[in-house]
Amino acid sequence: MIRYSILFACLLLISCDSGDIYPEEKRIEEMKMSVNAVFHFENDEAFPQNYRIIWGAFVGTSPYPLVCEVVGKPTAKTWRAASLQTVPKGTTHMALALVEKNENKVKYVFKKFFPDNSSTEMNISETIDLATFERVQAQVFTPQCIQCHGAGGLAAGLDLTEGNAYSNLVGVPSNADNSPKNRVTKYNLQNSFLLDVLTTRPPTVTTNHTTLSTLDANDDVNLIRTWIMSENEE
Ligand code: HEC
Repeated sequence: MIRYSILFACLLLISCDSGDIYPEEKRIEEMKMSVNAVFHFENDEAFPQNYRIIWGAFVGTSPYPLVCEVVGKPTAKTWRAASLQTVPKGTTHMALALVEKNENKVKYVFKKFFPDNSSTEMNISETIDLATFERVQAQVFTPQCIQCHGAGGLAAGLDLTEGNAYSNLVGVPSNADNSPKNRVTKYNLQNSFLLDVLTTRPPTVTTNHTTLSTLDANDDVNLIRTWIMSENEE
């Protein structure tokens, strides 16, 4: 049984390691530490289909994990990491993170865990909220919107930069809607013009947002919807 679970962990590691993490000629020295992690997900409607969530070992501020496992969508809202028998030497922390679609570069960290160096065991049990505003900012607004709504100008008077986006959206009447709806009304998808702009191309908005090349109609829009309906503020 033990042998079986070690093999299972290795297979998962290989599937996440896209090949460019380890230079072939180098073998990473390992330190003996067993890591047991269990995650319980809140707002699991925002579990991504196209972006991936990984559980990995990291060094310092590097956005690439040394090793990692891909977290599959849990059926019962709870995900148990395969127990890692060894962690690469030099690991400064473990993290549960959202990565880009095609590589293991971290886009957003849900939570970091720092090992106690005097211990050979790390036991983690944690509740992770998948629909925080922080994640919306990191996954959608900062990489996809601020070139027009922030740094590069303030289209529609809407500032989506970090620290400003929330107060520019929630409870603020839209500039471009005649009714006008609010840009975002918490717990009310119908009265959130932001969703109209991203999904339906309202006639009063000349810039077609539904065809923005980076916008993921499943994951990005779904995350925003889930955040609007969640109890999360900032
Ligand atoms: C290429 C530039 C550009 C990008 C990128 C862009 N927008 Fe816009 N957006 C505009 C312009 C211009 C308007 C003003 C309405 C119009 O086009 O007539 C607008 C309007 C809006 C409005 C309506 C605001 C209001 O008060 O009615 C929302 C909401 C919005 N954008 C959200 C976003 C989000 C979210 C993103 C990123 C996913 C984004 N935009 C990316 C150019 C852009």
